[in-house]
Amino acid sequence: MKTVNTISELRAARAELPEPVGIVPTMGFLHEGHLSLARRAHHECASVVATIFVNPTQFAPEEDLDAYPRDLDRDLALLEGAGVDLVWTPTPDVMYPPNFQTWVIVEDLTRVLEGASRPTHFRGVATVVAMLFNGVQPQRAYFGQKDAQQAVVVQRMVQDLNYPIEVVVCPIVREADGLAMSSRNTYLNPDQRQAATVLSRSLKAAKLAFHAGERDADALRAIVAEVVASEPLAQLEYISCAHPETLQELDGSIENGLLSMAVRVGRTRLIDNLVITGDSGTRNVKT
Ligand code: PAJ
Repeated sequence: MKTVNTISELRAARAELPEPVGIVPTMGFLHEGHLSLARRAHHECASVVATIFVNPTQFAPEEDLDAYPRDLDRDLALLEGAGVDLVWTPTPDVMYPPNFQTWVIVEDLTRVLEGASRPTHFRGVATVVAMLFNGVQPQRAYFGQKDAQQAVVVQRMVQDLNYPIEVVVCPIVREADGLAMSSRNTYLNPDQRQAATVLSRSLKAAKLAFHAGERDADALRAIVAEVVASEPLAQLEYISCAHPETLQELDGSIENGLLSMAVRVGRTRLIDNLVITGDSGTRNVKT
């Protein structure tokens, strides 16, 4: 496995790779969720390029950019074990040279859900993902359903800007007790870690109600809110039941929907989601 930093090193190494090439963009501090993407890419592509870059432009000034956990040596060993061929670890000056001023803005999809409280987040994500795609020129790109809105936004960008890339969205990997894996879980103390199971528990309660016949979007949102309210260490930021592709909030009786939520546990902001569908229970959105 090779590691590169600059764009010219990347281009030279990329030119040697057998195609199709799959890309796995990450911000590092890897866990099984990231590795599931790398393994799937290894299974489906002749070569895999992983990227590790804690992208400053997707963090608001009050967010956790400086505290974001990092462990490059461990990450590289894990990526090698998952079958990755090339790792691009650009530094901020490679991605954002002085006088940088070009942005990719996906409009309506980024105003809701995460975008409502993080208004510049997806501008940073779309811009860096475009730069990663331009540098690596992959045929396939692997993203996690954990960040459901991010996956929808990237798919929109790929279609709108005519990237010749297939976006593959992979299922959420969870801890044994249901907590969705996240690099930010390391911020939680033991009590908070226990409380954090309320996200998956509340989504599961709504899913059970859905399968028992509850189809009303408001009632499903209320079930999630009620379970979260029962956990004193958790504060609900939003609960949404939205169309899985347009991300517009649904009302009345629904057949399918993306249930998604953000919760604060102490100072840590956690997200989780579940796609519910009338035909086969739950499914993971794939393209
Ligand atoms: P990061 O949070 O490091 O996540 C990298 C990829 O791993 C994303 O596609 C994310 O959805 C996926 N992922 C994270 N936790 C997961 C889990 N528990 N199960 C399955 N997949 C999971 O998302 C980002 O970085 C950044 O926004 C990035 C796309 C790299 C742009 O900077």
